[in-house]
Amino acid sequence: MQSTVIAPSILSANFARLGEEVDNVLAAGADWVHFDVMDNHYVPNLTIGPLVCEALRKHGVTAPIDVHLMVEPVDRIIPDFASAGASMISFHPEASRHVHRSIQLIKGAGCQAGLVLNPATPVEVLDYVLEDLDMVLLMSVNPGFGGQSFIPSALEKLRAVRAMIDARAPHVRLEIDGGVKVDNIAGIAAAGADTFVAGSAIFNAGDYADVIGRMKAAVAG
Ligand code: DX5
Ligand code: ZN
Repeated sequence: MQSTVIAPSILSANFARLGEEVDNVLAAGADWVHFDVMDNHYVPNLTIGPLVCEALRKHGVTAPIDVHLMVEPVDRIIPDFASAGASMISFHPEASRHVHRSIQLIKGAGCQAGLVLNPATPVEVLDYVLEDLDMVLLMSVNPGFGGQSFIPSALEKLRAVRAMIDARAPHVRLEIDGGVKVDNIAGIAAAGADTFVAGSAIFNAGDYADVIGRMKAAVAG
């Protein structure tokens, strides 16, 4: 099991003052910045691209930037995010014609590679690529929007992927994304996640340090 990571999703941040929001959440104990990229094609919403990632780096953000691509096609945008300062890049297998090639493109560009499984995507998609990955990201909501409720079947899937990772590729992080709150994070951690994305739970709270602190305490048990 890898060390615990809390990765606030900036999808729920105030975009009118994004640099300040990211500074504040990192000062409040966040480990990574989760960066949701939506294209109004693979998902029915439109967000931010490499320019904003680069702007955060220029602003002085040195923490890992965890880019979650909800775009189709995937490959063309990978080099742009690598040059913009992405640390890890994750994508959905449904959005890539050649999953193995996309993973190699990400790693060849010097980033860590993650594969994202939607709520209905079977874990077998990991069978022949798990060892090549740095991270598996399980969606516990359908991708496209912040503020949705955690889908309970994600717990069973976490347990299944945790068993695969422990048996075959213990270097791989297991990240969960969608509906993570202070009051359900302990159960999510017990099911096997080590990396936790939380958007609305953190950015809709007045005191970021309080929420992140309570999340870390709940994970630590
Ligand atoms: C959804 C995004 C998530 C989302 C999480 O497509 O991938 O990262 O912003 O938001 P909450 O924590 O509010 O469910
Ligand atoms: Zn995300």
